[in-house]
This record gives sequence, C-alpha cells and structure tokens, in this order.
Amino acid sequence: LIKEAVAYEAKTKEDIENFRLKYLSRKGLLNELFDEFKLVPNEMKKSIGKEINTLKVTLEEKLAFLQNSAGSNSNTDTVDSTLDLTLPEIPQGLGSLHPLTIVRKRIVEIFARMGFNTEEGPEVESDWYNFSALNFAENHPAREMQDTFFVDKAKIQKDDMLLRTHTSNVQTRLMEYKKPPIRSIMAGRVYRNEAISARAHCQFHQVEGLYVDKNVSFKDLKDTLLHFAKEMFGKDTQIRLRPSYFPFTEPSAEIDISCFICHGEGCNICKHSGWVEIAGSGMVDPNVLENCGIDSEEYTGFAFGMGIERITMLKYGINDLRLFFENDVRFLKQFTGA
Ligand code: PHE
Repeated sequence: LIKEAVAYEAKTKEDIENFRLKYLSRKGLLNELFDEFKLVPNEMKKSIGKEINTLKVTLEEKLAFLQNSAGSNSNTDTVDSTLDLTLPEIPQGLGSLHPLTIVRKRIVEIFARMGFNTEEGPEVESDWYNFSALNFAENHPAREMQDTFFVDKAKIQKDDMLLRTHTSNVQTRLMEYKKPPIRSIMAGRVYRNEAISARAHCQFHQVEGLYVDKNVSFKDLKDTLLHFAKEMFGKDTQIRLRPSYFPFTEPSAEIDISCFICHGEGCNICKHSGWVEIAGSGMVDPNVLENCGIDSEEYTGFAFGMGIERITMLKYGINDLRLFFENDVRFLKQFTGA
C-alpha cells in the first residue's frame, strides 16, 4: 500500500482529490485499516500499529506534496526559481531635504508667523512683469544689472519672453490681480546669464516679500527685517540699512546683519567689517503701484528680496555655490536631520 501511494501521480486537482478520497477520507483505506486494527490480536498490536502509523504519515506527506506542487505549478509563469527570497535586503539610506529647501521653508515659516501668505509666479516671464512694470525704462542701464536669458523669439512667436531674473515679477503680477492689503512672500528659482563660479551661478533662488496697504512705512520694513534676522540668525542679531538703488523701490536699501560668526571680532565671512549683506529692499516706487493699477496716493508698500543660496551658505558655512546644484550625496547627506 505504501509503495502504491508513493508512486501515485497526480496531473490535475481532481487526481489529488481522488488520492485523498481513496486513502485519507473518512471512508478511505486508512480508516478501514484502523477499523480492522481492533481485530488484531493483542500481541501483534504493537508492530502492526507501528506500520499503520508509518502508512498514515506517508499518506499525509504525499497529499501535502501533491497539493504544494499543484500550487507552485500553477504559478510557474510568475515565480522565478533563481530568485532567492531568503537573501538579506540591501540597506538603502533615508534621503534628506536639500539644504535650500530647509532654509526656504524656514524663511517662509518666519514670515508666515508675521502674517505673510505665499504666492507663486512663472519662471518664463514677459519683459513687462520682469522689467517694464517694475520701472526699468527701455534703455535704462539698470537692465544691465541683471544679465538676462531671452527666449528665442522665432520659437515662441511672442515678443520679449525671458527667464525671470528675480522673483520681483511676482510682485507686479500680484499687485495687478489683487488689491491691497497685500502681505505676501514669494520664493522661487531665478536665472541670470553669468559664468558659473564658487560665488555666482546661472540659476539660483530668491525669496521676495511685499507688503502694500494704507500707511505702510519705512519703519515697518526695518522692523520686519530685524525680526526676521533675529529669528533666522539668533536673537542678538542687529541689522544695518545702507542706501542703494533699485528701479522699483524708492528709497532703496541694502540690508546687512551683524556678523553672527565673529560678533564683530573680525572673520572672513564679514571680511572683518562685522556686517554681512543679506537682502535688497525699499519702499515700492509709486510708478510701480500705478503700473499695476494701485492708487499711489492712497497706498504705500515695502518690498525686499534675498538669495536663498546666500542665506544657506551663511547659515551652514558653505563656501561654494556650485555644491547646491551638483547633488553629490556626500554633500547632501550632511543635512540629514537638519
Ligand atoms: N529684485 C532685487 C534683486 O534681485 C531684490 C529686491 C527685491 C530689491 C525687492 C528691492 C525690493 O536684486
């Protein structure tokens, strides 16, 4: 019986079921033997019992084998027999946020707590929103302050499209579609036709801020930026405003922060001056308000713009701008958990 059972071949599920019915079901051969076992004389019970048990185990194993191989047979199309599922996994490190993302989020968060919402604008922009509406005259030398990438006119059949040179294009768009009060922060990528070096790149990121309402003053600008500097670089940070020029602000000022590295002792970051420049700013020029349909008699505003790379380099002591765009994991993984 054992030999017969071991040799049993099953091609279909029905064959397997027949095997079970024949040997292992309630009315199968095994149970029949167990019934007859009662009739076995006592002195033979031990050896015959052992044999029946061996038969039982063999039959059960055979059934399990038939069922298993039926299961894997039906999967032969998908299971690759060379696949070793017991091999240990290859560990994959967790990624981290890019340092520019960490700093951008922090800047946006600081201004959000002062009531600034976030806005966005296009990177491919018209001359109007990037320059003309911002009071850059047609032949004004200020246009040369920002070397521009122009989009090939033949390709777009549209005049004067360019890659925005600053996030100030979002200012003009925002003032055009939204009436004051406006209190917004705008972060994004900008482009300038510059040779790539440790200190300059043809793409970088800026954060722009704009506040337009009745009675917005230069003092509001100063207080807002002082609060930002303290939150970003530490509560003892001071700011200094230096007169500057931007076509779209009047008066304009460069914002410096007291050097948080050497605290006035003198270091390479502040070139021993005790001060580091972090942003450009000013009161929105009345011409710009009017260009965007806002009554400059009724409303005033301030704006500022800063480079995210610059803030990140200061914050983490990074000395080469190119590192931000190479995505070398040895650089990036230093910001895990930052
Ligand atoms: N757009 C200026 C720049 O790119 C920065 C700036 C923004 C200055 C807003 C004043 C006000 O340099």
